Amino acid sequence: MDSRPIGVFDSGLGGLTVVSRLLEAMPQENIVYFGDTGRVPYGSRSRAIIERYAGQDIRFLLSRDVKLIIAACGTVSSVAPHVGERSGLPFIEVVSPAAKAAASATRNGKIGVIGTAATIASGAYKARIQALRPDFAVFQNACPLFVPLVESGWFAPDDTVVRLTAQRYLEPLKAQGIDTLILGCTHYPILTPVIRDIMGEDVALVDTGETTAQAAAAYLRENGMLAARREGADHFFVSDTADSFAHTAGILLGKSVDFDVSRVEIERF
Ligand code: DGL
Repeated sequence: MDSRPIGVFDSGLGGLTVVSRLLEAMPQENIVYFGDTGRVPYGSRSRAIIERYAGQDIRFLLSRDVKLIIAACGTVSSVAPHVGERSGLPFIEVVSPAAKAAASATRNGKIGVIGTAATIASGAYKARIQALRPDFAVFQNACPLFVPLVESGWFAPDDTVVRLTAQRYLEPLKAQGIDTLILGCTHYPILTPVIRDIMGEDVALVDTGETTAQAAAAYLRENGMLAARREGADHFFVSDTADSFAHTAGILLGKSVDFDVSRVEIERF
């Protein structure tokens, strides 16, 4: 048993889709979440900057005495997983669990991946899938406008801008005949209704929030590190003003929760 919290970070609010699945799978756990809302998005930045930001995010979580660090960010997981692997704590990223789930879900061996520009340029999901199944075809598309849309609270499926943007990104993948699509950025599960509408019911959607939470639960269980019970409220930290966080976070988490949100000077870490 280990009563310390789980540390989760993302460039912004998207990692809350992982938190929501973590609390579903392990309601007894406490979470410390850091969202780098002052520096989002990461996905359009260089490798060097993403590595530096990931290092600071991880050092902040280490200062909160967490037992496990989750990079709830497809971009950090694709471009800079080594930064987490060297943190000295157990580390879980989002790419490997999603690649594994997609390789099991596909029936025709054609898998699509959507993610930020940095994620897609890294080829990390494709490499991980083809390490499991070299015979599978992987089709990728970067969706750089999805993160700013979600961070601005624009994700309603009947919103014309959201729908047209999603169509532009998804139609080329649909045309390839994929039967499985990895939502390779943790912001994307919130766009599931519109993605589902465009891709159709026959395409399996792999939600990185869900697969990452399952991987974290399995790790803690196998290593005897589950918490016995929750100790008070979860703690949320952001690098920009905390004002609008609670509202959008409630939508991403799928429920309103008792938020304790504080601002962190992340450049100090
Ligand atoms: N949620 C992050 C991801 O999974 C968003 C990256 C970004 O900030 O561009 O990639």
